[in-house]
Parts: sequence; structure tokens; C-alpha cells
Amino acid sequence: MNGIMNYYNDFKLLITQKEIKRKINQLAKRINADYRGKTPILISVLKGSFMFLADLIRELTIDVEIEFIELSSYGDSTESSGEVSVIKWLSKEIRQRDIILVEDIVDTGLTVSTLLERLEKHNPQSLKVCTLTSKPARREIEVPIHYLGFEVPNKFIIGYGIDYGEKYRNLSEIYYLKNE
Ligand code: PRP
Repeated sequence: MNGIMNYYNDFKLLITQKEIKRKINQLAKRINADYRGKTPILISVLKGSFMFLADLIRELTIDVEIEFIELSSYGDSTESSGEVSVIKWLSKEIRQRDIILVEDIVDTGLTVSTLLERLEKHNPQSLKVCTLTSKPARREIEVPIHYLGFEVPNKFIIGYGIDYGEKYRNLSEIYYLKNE
């Protein structure tokens, strides 16, 4: 456990580092098989998914390219504002390319839904969604999830890229906020 958490009694361990590693191995095996002979572009949705992307691509044996998109819907709050604004968009053409959107969490579904719609307009060869976590209880818009790590309960989660007021992204495990 990261030392930082010793100062807080507000978080409870939900997913261990070992469980995350095992799950990423499984997801990578599926992606390696599904994209054999292809070079997909993995689009990481910043900031939350940077750690997941970094660990996932190190388990991939196929050729991959990476791109980053940054959107914001939550700001510093634990509640979504309901709007998605673009902070950073793609730096290359994705037409006729195989795309895997990489997320840390699908919550209401608004972010992934907005992104799928926007990316479709660029006519990719294929477009799939890979997320480390999904919180189905919060879903407002149904979105396809092709590669899912963990379904998580309706709690505010932090760690492994996911923040609370921009902090705790550096934790190696996933925790949930107690008494929320
Ligand atoms: C989080 C997360 C997803 C999105 C999911 O991003 O990384 O992109 O919210 O929520 P939704 O399904 O309700 O749209 P956030 O806006 O907090 O930015 P961050 O990744 O920089 O923390």
C-alpha cells in the first residue's frame, strides 16, 4: 500500500495491485489475439487512463500506436457537470485505422458516448472501447464496452489514475471513498 493512504481513514481498498495486474494480463491477451497482424491506435482519455494505458501496452505483443485525448466533465468535483469539453484532441488522422478507446472508468457513459460519436465521424476501420472499470449503477447513456476490467459499486473510487480533487492518481491500487 502506498504510504500516503496511512494518513487517511476515509478510503477503503477495493482492487489490489495484484488484481489489476492479473486483469490487465487477461485483457492484453484478448487484444493481442483480436488484433493479430494489425496496428491499432490506442486512444487514451486523459488524465485518468494514463496509468492503465501504460501498463496495458507493456503487455501487448502486437504493434500499437498511442494517442491522447483530454476531456473534462468533472472538474474538481465528485459529480459530473453533465457537459464534456475538449481540452486536447487527436494529433493524427484515424481514418481507416483500428481504434481502441482506453478509459479508466465508464460512469454515466456521457464521455464515451460523446467520444464514440465524434470519432465515428473520422471513419475509422473499427472502434472499440476498453475500460479498466465500469460503474453500471450510474449509467445514463448505454455505451458498448468491448474490453472490461472490473465492474465497481456505486461509490466514488480513487487511485490507479483516478483522482479526487486531482489527488491520489499515483496510488497503485483502487480505493473507494467511505461515507459518501
Ligand atoms: C472521468 C473518467 C472518464 C469520465 C467518466 O474523467 O476518466 O473519462 O470521467 O465519466 P462519465 O462516464 O460519467 O462521462 P474526468 O472528467 O474526471 O477527468 P480525468 O480523467 O482527468 O480525471
